[in-house]
Amino acid sequence: MKQDMILILDLGSEENPRLAREIRAMGVYTEIHPHDISAAELAALPNVKGIILNGGVNRVVDGVEIDASAAVYGSGLPLWAIDHKGSAPLAADGKTRETAIRDFVFGTCKAEANWNTDNFIADQIELIRRQVGDKKVLLALSGGVDSSVVAALLIKAIGDQLTCVHVNHGLLRKGEPEQVVQVFREEMGANLVYVDAVDRFLDKLAGVAEPERKRKIIGAEFIRVFEEEARKLDGIQFLGQGTIYPDIIESGTKTVKAVKSHHNVGGLPEDLNFELVEPLKMLFKDEVRACGVALGLPASMVYRQPFPGPGLGVRCLGAITRDRLEAVRESDAILREEFARNGLEGKVWQYFTAIPDLKSVGVRDNKRADEWCVIIRAVNTVDAMTATVENVPFDLLQHITARITAEVKGVNRVLFDLTPKPTGTIEWE
Ligand code: XMP
Repeated sequence: MKQDMILILDLGSEENPRLAREIRAMGVYTEIHPHDISAAELAALPNVKGIILNGGVNRVVDGVEIDASAAVYGSGLPLWAIDHKGSAPLAADGKTRETAIRDFVFGTCKAEANWNTDNFIADQIELIRRQVGDKKVLLALSGGVDSSVVAALLIKAIGDQLTCVHVNHGLLRKGEPEQVVQVFREEMGANLVYVDAVDRFLDKLAGVAEPERKRKIIGAEFIRVFEEEARKLDGIQFLGQGTIYPDIIESGTKTVKAVKSHHNVGGLPEDLNFELVEPLKMLFKDEVRACGVALGLPASMVYRQPFPGPGLGVRCLGAITRDRLEAVRESDAILREEFARNGLEGKVWQYFTAIPDLKSVGVRDNKRADEWCVIIRAVNTVDAMTATVENVPFDLLQHITARITAEVKGVNRVLFDLTPKPTGTIEWE
């Protein structure tokens, strides 16, 4: 194994991720684990040089003050207990926070600054091979950043012991299913099962206007299709998953309740009886992207903007119809093309079109024509909890409007959404 590790034990601090990132910024790999880590779990972690017992405001769980397990105290490794309350300073003895951390990591633990993307990938490849042996792994590959990076890593680690399943539910953006096939099957030589489930999803969604029901149908149908494919394959023991560290935080830890449960497309049921392979689960998003680049994935895949699990299903407002779905897909493609051409790709956090279930009168070929309208949304945010509207140049908006109304069938008007979050949400449903 190439990299040293400092283990952070969660004893109720809200700052575990911050501390993990600070130490990684010093070039040393960190992992965050629950306070009650067992001796066997501890022994399985490679190259641990020291342990930080990171206490904090959530240290009392169900009326009991938690402490690190006996395995930790008996490990013989350097230990550092931080028992700050709330945002009180890390080091009470006058040292700056950074000096205190450095003294422990490099002075006491003698860790080496050898954490970087290449070493992380090399270590994960070794760990994946150890875990999987000669068995087979199945992966639901949506083409999103996380599942794509896991796929690339698994292909490198275990080659054709991996089978990827890409479910095209008809709600992906223009060109996405084709890109998944091109990159993973053609360029990386993966076993890729491509499932055309478009009709199945659209039939299930026909006439359903209520947004939460639409989401539930999409999620449930995804699981059904994936399970059907899994059953066709023999001898699968493992399931690869693109879990990343923010997913774990949001789903709650032993000391912090869930922010929101993670019900998403790609969220698979636990009774599938597979053991999980989750090589990215300790990484933050920017680190996942860096791995993707190092593994040779195209920038358009690695740096793509966030896209909701239910996809265009929540942007084709109300009951989904095929004509409006095509209109939102085509207008979104034009918007993305124009943003890329005008230097806004990678600058604006999220931008897309939505299509309401609304026609208005217009004029086409000198005749009255009732057609759809599409809405452009372009927002910036740090955490998606609040958002501001991008100040898109007016002439660019006019140009995009001209293209959409000329090129997208059945659309005669384009609107720009000026609403920040709050009061609007980023998506329209
Ligand atoms: P809202 O609309 O709540 O969106 O302001 C915040 C962020 O979350 C994305 N979003 C979703 N992502 N499944 C997802 O995976 C969903 O059902 C979903 N709904 C919204 C949205 O695109 C934005 O980035």
